[in-house]
Amino acid sequence: MAVSISIGSGKGGTGKTMVIVNLALLLAKMGKKVCLVDLDLGGADAHVLLGLLEPKRTLTDFLTRRVGSVSDVIHTFYSFHGLQFIPGTGHTLQTANIGYQEKHRLLRSLAAVKTDVMLIDVGAGTNYHALDFFMFSDLQMCITLPDPASIMDMYTFLQLATIRKMLGSFLSQSDVGIALKSHRFATLSEVFELAEKTREGAREKAQESLRFFHPLLLVNRDSAGGRVNKFKLRKMVTKYLGIDIPELGDIPEDGKIDDALKAFIPICELHPHAPAALALAAIAEKLEKVIALFSPKT
Ligand SMILES: Nc1ncnc2c1ncn2[C@@H]1O[C@H](COP(=O)(O)OP(=O)(O)OP(=O)(O)O)[C@@H](O)[C@H]1O
Ligand SMILES: [Mg+2]
Repeated sequence: MAVSISIGSGKGGTGKTMVIVNLALLLAKMGKKVCLVDLDLGGADAHVLLGLLEPKRTLTDFLTRRVGSVSDVIHTFYSFHGLQFIPGTGHTLQTANIGYQEKHRLLRSLAAVKTDVMLIDVGAGTNYHALDFFMFSDLQMCITLPDPASIMDMYTFLQLATIRKMLGSFLSQSDVGIALKSHRFATLSEVFELAEKTREGAREKAQESLRFFHPLLLVNRDSAGGRVNKFKLRKMVTKYLGIDIPELGDIPEDGKIDDALKAFIPICELHPHAPAALALAAIAEKLEKVIALFSPKT
């Protein structure tokens, strides 16, 4: 796998699936080999947007060991520019609550998929699965609606992802790792403080782990009345989380998205000139440039 990109948000219904399905299609149309993965355990629905109502094989087959590799459940959409797709699990408790070992088996198998770009829908929420799937990839996109509640949820999501990323930078059996594991943290400064108290210099190591964590910001369902003050939002994130969230773009509210949903064809294919489709196309072009920076040079 060359470059992986995940999309996450604190709140449900922010448009993660709609955005990632369309970006996957647009990148495939640009000639990239793209694999879209639905890791929204318990709430998988990307297949519906693509008109694949009953996928023959899904991640459930991998998680229940009916197949040995996630590559065995890849579906190729020849009518959608050769887009490859790994459908999510059905609604079973067994797969929605996978354990630590299974999660790592899944991530290892995903890392072995041969593709240029892997796009991952991690589902909503701040549970460990969502956070780990989000952090697994090389690049992250965070998405919010313009309302204050949604922005606060995204902020909380980023804060927890940041804490989890930092905790992961210490070996679980090290002195700092053990000290950090036995605490529940509400803020980043608490992590820094305890790390430094346990071992001198650990604060710098924790801060270092965030050096390459710059989730790209997307605002969905933007309307003239409800514009987000992105400058203020980014300033707050930098001040309190110590990370920068570069802007990837805005997507306007667009009734044609509903038409696309009903037609089981993503909006970029069904109505490529609709306002949301044009915004998504601009985002895909920007993303392609970011991907080029991350792709291994040949
Ligand atoms: N820009 C938009 N304009 C109009 N409708 C939109 C827009 N973005 C998303 N929607 C609609 O909002 C709903 C939620 O979108 P979507 O399912 O992509 O969100 P989600 O973040 O994946 O949700 P979940 O957290 O439940 O997985 C869908 O009905 C979708 O069609
Ligand atoms: Mg979704």
